[in-house]
Amino acid sequence: MVRSSGSYYSALKRITRAANSAYGLRKTCNFIAKNSARAMKANGCRILSLNPRREYLISVGTYGLSDLYLKKGPLDARRSLPDILEGKAVYIADATRDDRVQHPEVALEQGISSILGVPILRMGEAIGEIRIYARERRQFSEAERNFLFSVADVCSVVFERAELQQSLDGDREARARQRRPSPVSAVPVPTLRPATFAHPSEEDFARLLDFYCIEWLYEPRSFALRWEGGKIAEMFTPDFYLPELDIYVELTTLKQNLITEKNRKLRQLRELYPEVNVRLLTKSDFHKLLAKYGYGPLGEAKVEGVDRVLYSHAQIQRRVRTLARRISRDYGDERLVLIGVLKGVLCFMADLMQHLSLPVTVDFMAVSHYGGDGQVVRITRDLDSSIAGKHVLMVEDIVDTGMTLNYILGHLSAHNPASLRVCTLLDKRARRLLDLPLDYVGFEIPDEFVVGYGLDYKGEYRNLPFIGVLKPGLVKNEEPR
Ligand code: IMP
Repeated sequence: MVRSSGSYYSALKRITRAANSAYGLRKTCNFIAKNSARAMKANGCRILSLNPRREYLISVGTYGLSDLYLKKGPLDARRSLPDILEGKAVYIADATRDDRVQHPEVALEQGISSILGVPILRMGEAIGEIRIYARERRQFSEAERNFLFSVADVCSVVFERAELQQSLDGDREARARQRRPSPVSAVPVPTLRPATFAHPSEEDFARLLDFYCIEWLYEPRSFALRWEGGKIAEMFTPDFYLPELDIYVELTTLKQNLITEKNRKLRQLRELYPEVNVRLLTKSDFHKLLAKYGYGPLGEAKVEGVDRVLYSHAQIQRRVRTLARRISRDYGDERLVLIGVLKGVLCFMADLMQHLSLPVTVDFMAVSHYGGDGQVVRITRDLDSSIAGKHVLMVEDIVDTGMTLNYILGHLSAHNPASLRVCTLLDKRARRLLDLPLDYVGFEIPDEFVVGYGLDYKGEYRNLPFIGVLKPGLVKNEEPR
């Protein structure tokens, strides 16, 4: 169907006016979705934002699609139309038969045939997508594609405004709690808040997950529980999905009638969808759940003394695996001696060595620091075996000023290894006094005192499964150990 450019022009006029209004993100995006679908004489439209790690697409505006279609499950960005991530438009003639469609059965049930998706770009990089849905099988003209690309540009500006607003709100909140906003965010931008929550406890839960850098999606999937005459008569939508843990979470208060009703639905859900991992949680339960998956100690919302989490357990594990792959590839079939300095390196060493696919041996040293500023280093425990003629990889938890590493590298070189390289999990480059070559670096971190995953403050915090920043003011004297 050919439309005059005048009708696209009036639709764009309405859309840009909404984008420049005082509406919130959702209302603006719903309005844009409706006007885009109508201008293209289509049946539905959806505006999606990529989550910070670019793994999932999250709905921020919709028109003409049923709840079941919208909540058909998390949309994996790499599987669901990967061309969008590459910044390209995607056309699907028949959604019920195309491999690229993640839930074709739901498309069939909804009577969706053709889909046109275009990326929402910021400085050339995809940050979301706008999709148009048609019931009949149809083509999309050049004019329609151009129109949708212009709408996507408007969406990009709308997202940017919402992020700015959310970060201003965040700063205001931090000031209200007399906390300075963190200079380095653990979650990379854009941090578009995908949800307006139905209940304050859901927002609390989301905050707690954010604190621990645990990825979450709000109500991404509805499960049909009962059918009558071929139609769905009862559905259940758990509050959250935590992709890293592959678990759905439904929050509940302690009111007995609510718990009984929710338990009934969960039983049904488990019977019908045995592959789905779902939990009913009260507020105190969710701390226990986080503890079970290695986040924070039992029974406490946040770890006392820790200001914020820089890297979650899952983020560390992913990075350690990447480092191990790179090391394994670089050394090929060589035998390798890993050397660590006790005690901070213990978690990193244990994880790293398990992911190396070459023969390794391990040895440890211990050092102490003395002198007024603690910058003179002395070895208190030396290696058990000779490293002469061997390939050595020095494994460090953190390189700060570089004094310790410099001293140890000098000591090791004197024993004539065949090669000597350095792998450090953390690089606090801002405080470096000596320029040392670091061959493998996990994360570059800001100039703040960090604890957890082996790193301590006065002997404590080593057992935390994440890396967190100590509360400002707590570190009196940053003595190296
Ligand atoms: P250097 O300043 O590079 O010699 O670092 C000395 C040692 O200080 C490191 O091996 C760590 O044990 C410790 N260190 C430095 N920064 C931190 C930190 O942020 N948290 C915990 N320990 C640290």
